[in-house]
Amino acid sequence: MIDQTIHTATPGAATPCLTPAEEFPPEEFPGEQRRGVYRAIYTRRDIRHFRPDSIPDSVLARLVRAAHHGPSVGFMQPWDFILIRDLAVRRQVNELFLKERQAASCFFDEPRRSQYLSMKLEGILESPVNLCITCDPTRAGVVLGRNSVAETDLYSTCCAVQNLWLAARAEGVGVGWVSILKLPQLRQILGIPPHVIPVAYLCLGYPVEFSSKPMLESLGWRDRMPLEQLLHFDGWNPGAATAEADWQEFRQAMAEEVPNY
Ligand SMILES: Cc1cc2nc3c(=O)[nH]c(=O)nc-3n(C[C@H](O)[C@H](O)[C@H](O)COP(=O)(O)O)c2cc1C
Repeated sequence: MIDQTIHTATPGAATPCLTPAEEFPPEEFPGEQRRGVYRAIYTRRDIRHFRPDSIPDSVLARLVRAAHHGPSVGFMQPWDFILIRDLAVRRQVNELFLKERQAASCFFDEPRRSQYLSMKLEGILESPVNLCITCDPTRAGVVLGRNSVAETDLYSTCCAVQNLWLAARAEGVGVGWVSILKLPQLRQILGIPPHVIPVAYLCLGYPVEFSSKPMLESLGWRDRMPLEQLLHFDGWNPGAATAEADWQEFRQAMAEEVPNY
C-alpha cells in the first residue's frame, strides 16, 4: 500500500507518518512522487538566514533517519550525529567560525576579500539546532570496498549529509553547511574523540526563503558552470568522432531545458 501523502511540515503542525520504504513497490515512482524527488534536488539551497521557529522533534528525527539510510562503503555506516541546541556550545562554535573566517580572508585579493567578509556564511546562532555529522574510520574493522580508496568512508558520510539535506528540503527545513571551522578546535568543543573526523557542521531551521539560485551565484561570486562543458564521452578526451555519433541523442536530451519544479 503506497502512502501518497508526502506532507510539507509547518512548525507545530501535526506530523505525518511516512510509509516505511519496505512497503513501496520497487519499480519507478508514480509521476507526482518522482517530481517531488527532482523538486527537492533542484530547489535545495544552502541556507544561512533562519526564522526562529524550532523544528518539531518528529521532523528532526525523520531527517536524521534519512541520513542514516545513506549508502556507505561496505555498509560500514561510519557516521555519528551530534545534535546541538545548547546556545553556550553554539556560541563557542560561532567564535571559532569568526576567527577562521577572518584568517581565511587573506586568501583573497581585494575587492573579493571585502566581498567575502561581507557575506553571511553561516547561521550557527540563528538556527534552532546545529548538527555535526562525523566519520569514524575505525568502524567495522576491515571494510569491504575501502582497501583501494581510503577516503570512501568520508564519501559515505557525505552521502548521509546529502540524504538529510534533500529530506530537509522536502520538509521545508533549511540546511546550511559551515566548513569555515578549524577541526581540532571543533573536536575539542564537541568532545569528539581524536580518531573521529567531524565531516559536516550543519545549521538546521526553517529558512527565511529558499531562493531560486545559490547565494554565491546571486552575489556574482561564481556562476553555475554549463553542464555541456563538463561532459566527456567514452573517455576524458572530448570530441572523439565515434563518441559524437553515439551520444548525439543524449546530448540533445541534455540540451533540453530543465523543467521548472
Ligand atoms: C562541503 C561543503 C562545505 C560548505 N561550506 C560552506 C560554508 O562554510 N559557508 C557557506 O556559507 N556555505 C558553505 N557551503 C555551501 C555552498 O556554498 C553552496 O552549496 C554552494 O554555493 C551552492 O549553493 P546551493 O547549495 O544553495 O545550491 C558548503 C557546501 C559544501 C558542499
